[in-house]
Amino acid sequence: FEKIFALNTEVEQTNTLRLRKGVIIGAGQVGLACAYSLLIQNCFDELVLQDINTKKVEGEVMDLLHGMSFIAPTELAAGTVADVGKDADIVIITAGAAQKPGETRLDLLGRNVAIYQNLLEDVVKHCPHAILLIVTNPVDIMTYVALKISGFPSSKVIGTGTVLDTSRFRSLLARRLNIDARSVQAYIIGEHGDSEVPVWSTANVAGRKLLSQDWENLDSEEREEFTAIFSQVKNAAYEIIHRKGYTSYAIGLAVTDIVEAIIRSQERILTVSGLVNGLYDIKDVCLGLPRVINEKGFYKTVNLDLSPREEKQLRLSANLLQDVFAQLKF
Ligand code: LAC
Repeated sequence: FEKIFALNTEVEQTNTLRLRKGVIIGAGQVGLACAYSLLIQNCFDELVLQDINTKKVEGEVMDLLHGMSFIAPTELAAGTVADVGKDADIVIITAGAAQKPGETRLDLLGRNVAIYQNLLEDVVKHCPHAILLIVTNPVDIMTYVALKISGFPSSKVIGTGTVLDTSRFRSLLARRLNIDARSVQAYIIGEHGDSEVPVWSTANVAGRKLLSQDWENLDSEEREEFTAIFSQVKNAAYEIIHRKGYTSYAIGLAVTDIVEAIIRSQERILTVSGLVNGLYDIKDVCLGLPRVINEKGFYKTVNLDLSPREEKQLRLSANLLQDVFAQLKF
């Protein structure tokens, strides 16, 4: 093979181009859906998959590598943050115990905190400048746990939050309206879970509000239809887990959207989970709110014009998350 190329000997040794490197920790169904989506959308120049099951992750990487002639190149490897994953720009953590049918995301907590204590030690040591993207459920608590364990600035510890719920919300509204989901402006905020809050008061299409009047004054038929749509959003993961045992594709796409906003410094507004410090009188908790994302992570949060009802629901969601965290031996 040596005779195939004529080498250029005048190659400068210092690298001026920065390559984008990502690590996914946890190559289960969610980690793999993230990897697949990130690869086919060519988000990273280098991507490392880390999993405690080293044999399986090697097999997954081989399988993905065999598709490389169909997509733009990404240097893909099985490894860890301590070796090939060193100095990654973004570390995506999906590792954790899986949610069983009927189990709430909060039930998973104890098991996942212990896993994080172990793996974050290596991440902090070998990827000290990385942005952490937390996917493990319960994602808001795990984002807070990662923030505390890593000691990273809050701008760099981001959870997937209600990005997926917001997409589910928009998709369902879009189907009802028979338009493209990207043309619906509507947000789900708060916990990624049972206490999440639909922001009906600002939901709109091309500036036209979906609600004809305040929630309290809607007629019962209208209110029922809106409530049914939100129930589908809130219960989506339960419904999917009941049927296929886990959720994966949509969260993989949500992660890819967040990664793109970071690496291309898009200043995009996404309802990621992150530390709230004073907005709506909520302090010292991580939850989903529309935040502006760029290469530095999240650096500002939209101060939504919530109705008093929504603001109350958001505070309840924050209180619930804080109560859960308080029960942790941490
Ligand atoms: C879901 C998982 C990611 O909502 O929590 O699909």
